[in-house]
Amino acid sequence: MLIITAKDYDEMSQKAARYIAAEILLKPDCLLGLATGSTPIGTYQELIRIHQQEGLSFQKVRTVNLDEYYGLPASHEQSYRYFMQETLFDHIDICPDNTHVPDGLTKDPQSYGKEYDELIVALGGIDLLLLGIGSNGHIAFNEPGSYFTAQTRLVDLNPNTIEDNSRFFESKDDVPRQAISMGMKSILDSKRIVILASGAGKAQAIKDMLEGPVDPMLPASILQLHSNVTLIADKAALALVQPD
Ligand code: F6R
Repeated sequence: MLIITAKDYDEMSQKAARYIAAEILLKPDCLLGLATGSTPIGTYQELIRIHQQEGLSFQKVRTVNLDEYYGLPASHEQSYRYFMQETLFDHIDICPDNTHVPDGLTKDPQSYGKEYDELIVALGGIDLLLLGIGSNGHIAFNEPGSYFTAQTRLVDLNPNTIEDNSRFFESKDDVPRQAISMGMKSILDSKRIVILASGAGKAQAIKDMLEGPVDPMLPASILQLHSNVTLIADKAALALVQPD
């Protein structure tokens, strides 16, 4: 795994945005896999700046998001569709039909998950997947204990994730208990993966991801087995990693 160290969150965001912009320049109709949460916000802001000031076009870019809270409509301010519109899509020239976020209201999550994976394949597979990491080592909402072969599906959120994400809701009780999450299989089938981490709260998960055994209890550790992963992390997130 290639590790790129940034001095802080802003530098991490700039480096990640440059990485994504380069992918779009090389392949204007690339399929990007996208994450939500706090970590990629700066990256999306920087991509918007590159679009506005340097003319990077998203006209042909296609996107698939990692996950969506189950039970939240797209219009809900905490839904991930809403987040993507507000944080990125509404500020760039992407074609709305080219953006895909799992439907949090699907009545048949099992068939829907299968269709979502088939959509990714039909779109040619993910060229570049942007990931964050949970403090418990989850990627997308593949929580500790997830099968490495898991398909896109309905998942129960770990209590630790509900606690972490309660900062976005009025109270912990308002955090949905389930989500539709891209499975490990589609993640691992991505051609290239960029994983971002910022802050001391991610330091243990990053250490375990890089130095621990490949273990379903630390889902991100599976990335050790992927041939093209770049970790872009700030110094705080890398603080526990042993230098080579
Ligand atoms: C979000 C996602 C999650 C987050 C992770 C980190 O789409 O799939 O795995 O990347 O929970 O969240 P933040 O960035 O808020 O710390």
